[in-house]
Amino acid sequence: MRKQIQADLSNIADVLRKETLNYKELSESINEFQEIVSGIHSFRKDGEIESLHFDNGMALGTSYAAMCLKDCMRTKMFVKGIMEAIDTLASKSMGAIHILYAGTGPYATLLLPVLAKYSSERVKCSLLEVNASTFESMKAVIKECGFEDFVVEYIHADATQFEIDNPKSIDILVSETMQRALDSEQQVPIVMNLLPQLRSDAILIPEKIDVSAVQMRIDWMHATKTGDPFCKQLGSVIELSRNEIERMTAGLKHGEQIQFSSKVFTVSSASLKTHNELSLLTEIQIFDTTWLRTFDSGLTVPKGVYSFSDDTEKEFKFKMQYVVDGDPGVRIERQ
Ligand SMILES: C[S@@+](CC[C@H](N)C(=O)[O-])C[C@H]1O[C@@H](n2cnc3c(N)ncnc32)[C@H](O)[C@@H]1O
Repeated sequence: MRKQIQADLSNIADVLRKETLNYKELSESINEFQEIVSGIHSFRKDGEIESLHFDNGMALGTSYAAMCLKDCMRTKMFVKGIMEAIDTLASKSMGAIHILYAGTGPYATLLLPVLAKYSSERVKCSLLEVNASTFESMKAVIKECGFEDFVVEYIHADATQFEIDNPKSIDILVSETMQRALDSEQQVPIVMNLLPQLRSDAILIPEKIDVSAVQMRIDWMHATKTGDPFCKQLGSVIELSRNEIERMTAGLKHGEQIQFSSKVFTVSSASLKTHNELSLLTEIQIFDTTWLRTFDSGLTVPKGVYSFSDDTEKEFKFKMQYVVDGDPGVRIERQ
């Protein structure tokens, strides 16, 4: 049974890793992946859908976290990027590559097919999850798949506060605890807590998340079909990457919190005839050349934040700032 699950996950990993996209093949593989994991752990519908709320954002409940698997391009690109990162490190060193996966969800979705492609001498993982029922499900899935030999540690803890026991042993940090525009969930405080504990050459996945302000074209839907630019860039609002975190933490005193700087964007009324919707775009560099671009996934659909249809002023100024509080996100003020 375990051998069969591992063989099926290995085939799924091969499809997810492909450079070319055959959407039918991808969605069949994702369905098969879903059947394997839901066959191992099916949810009681009571009580398991509850999300957890903290003063720095929320953690999705078990059933919602399980559903992330079905975002086909998201799952494909993360699995592909993780395997590419492992292979990059494996080409430089003979030792085991240690992955810390923060926010595993109930199926350790982004690692499960990956583990089917490597030996437990080559890849190790520490699995960190805050939600108790999600954590129990994830352990059951790892066991049923026969992947326990890969696991260094199961950690039931809050990744925004957790102090890693042996941080220098970690080679890759993986976390997908986000929504579009880095809304609501805890990707930012998780990465800001864990990444600075690691070696400076440890790989962060996703490597970079960029949320930018844009003006969308009135006919943006048509433009995306013809390949024309569907928006006008105003500028970056927040970038979450190793470089940015190092830059922001450089001048901090002990115990001082990072504040994301505010940006002011100006929109001219002339441009509104063609581009009348202010939106936030999210682009995600998973690893190196593996990206989730706008519209690829639920994580990268544009978020409309202001419609100009009734306005007649000459120009508009907007101040935008990313804030980590009980409901993290980009705060927007019209000036
Ligand atoms: C969006 S789901 C994604 C699940 C899985 N990583 C995937 O990609 O399919 C995020 C998961 O991270 C967990 N999580 C969120 N915040 C967390 C935190 N502060 N510490 C540990 N786990 C967290 C949630 O409980 C949830 O299971």
